[in-house]
Amino acid sequence: MNLKITCIPGDGIGPEIVAEAKKVVEKAGEIYGFTPDFTDILMGGASIDVHGVPLTDEAIATAKAADAVLMGSIGGNTTTSPWYKLPPDKRPEAGLLKIRKALNLFANLRPALLYEELAAACPLKEEISKAGFDIMIMRELTGGLYFGERKTYEENGLRTAMDTLTYNEEEIRRIAIKGFEIARKRKKKVTSVDKANVLDSSRLWRVVVEEVAKDYPDVTLEHMLVDNCAMQLVKDPAQFDVILTENMFGDILSDEASMVTGSIGMLASASLNDTKFGLYEPSHGSAPDIAGMDIANPIATILSAAMMLRFSFDQDKAADAIEAAVKQVLKDGYRTGDIMSQGYTKVGCSKMGSLIAERIR
Ligand code: IPM
Ligand code: MG
Repeated sequence: MNLKITCIPGDGIGPEIVAEAKKVVEKAGEIYGFTPDFTDILMGGASIDVHGVPLTDEAIATAKAADAVLMGSIGGNTTTSPWYKLPPDKRPEAGLLKIRKALNLFANLRPALLYEELAAACPLKEEISKAGFDIMIMRELTGGLYFGERKTYEENGLRTAMDTLTYNEEEIRRIAIKGFEIARKRKKKVTSVDKANVLDSSRLWRVVVEEVAKDYPDVTLEHMLVDNCAMQLVKDPAQFDVILTENMFGDILSDEASMVTGSIGMLASASLNDTKFGLYEPSHGSAPDIAGMDIANPIATILSAAMMLRFSFDQDKAADAIEAAVKQVLKDGYRTGDIMSQGYTKVGCSKMGSLIAERIR
């Protein structure tokens, strides 16, 4: 069986980490009886350098023709890279926003969990971290402030700028349904995060989430204001199961949650639409400062590839095997620089990929 996968190596450490994920998927395919059929496309700075735009229509068509997209990372140093001298809609990030919208990837799943083997890297006090945590952030990805009307203009002689935050009930309902469905397979709790004490869009969010909750009587729903949630994530992260929230809040909270795990280099993510199609990428950025040095941690991308095999290709056994291989490599004492501590064996990006591939059973 052939799995049609479009790859976006992207910028910074992207090409290195995607190469390792491909290595691991190929090995899993040998054992579990599938052949990945990879096609690369350019996006972000890599595409700007060649085509002058961060994503071409041909690249989108290639992505659409596949069954899943595996991405590394895009973007460069925002103060020094020439990409950031371009107008906003020509910069690397515009490519990412364009592909999310073009493929209707409205549901962004960002797991933030504490790896037992890496508990020492967690920046929380031990009395808090000892409870452990395993949070799934469900971020709405194609609406809100990111895609609302915006403009910069002059009013009364003052430079003025405006961004708008709009949600309709259908956009809220479809992400809420995904959130409850996922919670059902986990600890059956949804924390819906909003700013309903101030924003109309949040008040509608709350009403629609309540309506959806009626179809999931087995799942507990609670509402939490976003500022309180930011605080609770460092005070008592064990209270959360699924965090369901809109685009901008999800962007901010998911970075916070990943930092709280202490191992952002380990965290995968999936962006899904209504079909089996998905885009899978690590939660971290392109780390331009360490690009090309073979020291990046490829694990988040490898785990994203495992999510891809599970969600888009129903290859649950291969996904389990990859996740087990990652655990095993950590047990065996191998670490990349970002998760290194005393007494372990430090390895580079490609070595880490090979060690994981070797451990797939
Ligand atoms: C993310 C990133 C993007 C976002 C940027 C690169 C546009 O921060 O995936 O979280 O804000 O969505
Ligand atoms: Mg972000």
